Amino acid sequence: MAVVALVGNKGGAGKTTLCVNLASALAENAPTVILDADPQRSSLQWREIADCAEAVPVIDAVDDLEHRVRESAPRYDFVVIDCPPSVHSNQTRAALERCDLALIPVQPSPLDLWATTHIEGEVEAARTNNPELRAVLVINQLEPRTRLSQLVRRGLSELGLPTAESAVRRRVAFRSSVLEGRSVLELGSRGKAAAEDIRELIDEVFKQ
Ligand SMILES: Nc1ncnc2c1ncn2[C@@H]1O[C@H](COP(=O)(O)OP(=O)(O)OP(=O)(O)O)[C@@H](O)[C@H]1O
Ligand SMILES: [Mg+2]
Repeated sequence: MAVVALVGNKGGAGKTTLCVNLASALAENAPTVILDADPQRSSLQWREIADCAEAVPVIDAVDDLEHRVRESAPRYDFVVIDCPPSVHSNQTRAALERCDLALIPVQPSPLDLWATTHIEGEVEAARTNNPELRAVLVINQLEPRTRLSQLVRRGLSELGLPTAESAVRRRVAFRSSVLEGRSVLELGSRGKAAAEDIRELIDEVFKQ
């Protein structure tokens, strides 16, 4: 079983969006569950709208993440954890102690970059008990033509964590799919480009 956590120190970076879409893509090939560790419970809300048997199951893990991960081990190949917008929260710390891979979405904005500097310390602290922890920054809401987007990679390279080559672009499908309780993979041609962003990211981060 592989445990992936979406973590970050900034509200609105795209943790829940990437969580439900990455989990939906992983679920195409392997049993996958989402553990919602964020007291806002956005992934759970997404699942309630979905209201169809095929959607990825989402389990409330706000108060008992460690237990929920252990419970998922025999049934699922992938566990994807949605975390609250603070790396200092108990839930994020528990996720970092337990996950194999932490994905950290960052928007191309200076404020988001600054908020991300705190993450390195928490990742290092978690490695005391979880020495194999991999942590990767993921640029989300990229708008390739803007100057900020062009500069973001350079800014991130100054942090002590690697940045994924694949970036997720800012696309309407990521918003409209939530309204429909779906992932971008289920939107057909409307979600094609967004689905490619998600699949490329999965190929890259799981290739090792
Ligand atoms: N790649 C994208 N393209 C377009 N819109 C996006 C993208 N990623 C996220 N969004 C939108 O940005 C907003 C914030 O995203 P999301 O809720 O996933 O962030 P979050 O990190 O989970 O926030 P919180 O910290 O509050 O949990 C949402 O309205 C979402 O639909
Ligand atoms: Mg969220």
